[in-house]
Amino acid sequence: MNSAENYITGNDMQHRDTNDLIGEFKYELSLMQGKCLDIGCGPGNITKDILLPSLPDEATIVGADISQEMVNYARKNNADNHLSYIVLDIESLDLPKDQIEQYDNAVSFYCLHWCIDLRRAFENIYKLLRPEGKALVMFIAYHMGFEAYIQLKQNPQFQPYLQDAHRYLPYFQRIGCKDMRASLEEMLRDIGFKILHCRNKEKNFRYSKQSLTNHVRAVNPFIKRFPDEDIKNYFLEKLVNEIIDQQNDNVPLNINKQKDDIVLKYYLLIAHVQKPST
Ligand SMILES: C[S@@+](CC[C@H](N)C(=O)[O-])C[C@H]1O[C@@H](n2cnc3c(N)ncnc32)[C@H](O)[C@@H]1O
Repeated sequence: MNSAENYITGNDMQHRDTNDLIGEFKYELSLMQGKCLDIGCGPGNITKDILLPSLPDEATIVGADISQEMVNYARKNNADNHLSYIVLDIESLDLPKDQIEQYDNAVSFYCLHWCIDLRRAFENIYKLLRPEGKALVMFIAYHMGFEAYIQLKQNPQFQPYLQDAHRYLPYFQRIGCKDMRASLEEMLRDIGFKILHCRNKEKNFRYSKQSLTNHVRAVNPFIKRFPDEDIKNYFLEKLVNEIIDQQNDNVPLNINKQKDDIVLKYYLLIAHVQKPST
């Protein structure tokens, strides 16, 4: 993830999908009394503008992110009486003791696919919730655009900067899982959660070449590794072109093949779960 400002200008897809999810779970969110943790809150604009108005008036939210830069930005630009921010790694082997069982609810939008050990992330969510606490999560199951990382890794110019490209594929895509919903359900049940809802949803998002470039600049983890602006821009252009080629290979001809009307298909895992009472 790159700078907070870049992320805000390139997050139309995340914004739309979180809005859709919050609309779909409007009733469940309206019951989320008490303290709610927003895991991977990023710059905090979605936390403040979309999540906060959906919760009961008395509810409070703690936005949590692994990135100190995101938390600084969120504190400065998206603070509110009902909203505070902390640095927290949801994959941590050693959660801060003062956070255990502090939350009545948790949400996480567009974050958990970044986890190397997804099971540990969900075990931590379980530990952070109070008994009977609920979590609503949405993250990428599969996105064909990520295959472009693997293709560009073959290019000797980029290879030194993309050694770990595979690690940045969404968790279930990376492990080559066939039935992502069933595997997620099994993981959640095994940890101890009661499953209220779980599904794998097909989505697509339409971009112009410029809006796709903004999006890719905001979320790809490699660009900041390149030593100067020329090679950064060259890599970005190659990456965007490779993503467009992936789309043309995968999307049926009748959708659209014009370079400035790009439709990317992807799948989102959505789960609503509850920690049982003790
Ligand atoms: C794509 S942004 C999503 C931001 C916001 N939730 C939204 O929907 O726009 C993903 C965020 O997850 C954070 N993140 C990645 N791995 C994390 C981890 N292990 N623990 C906490 N946050 C993490 C990143 O720093 C980034 O800010």
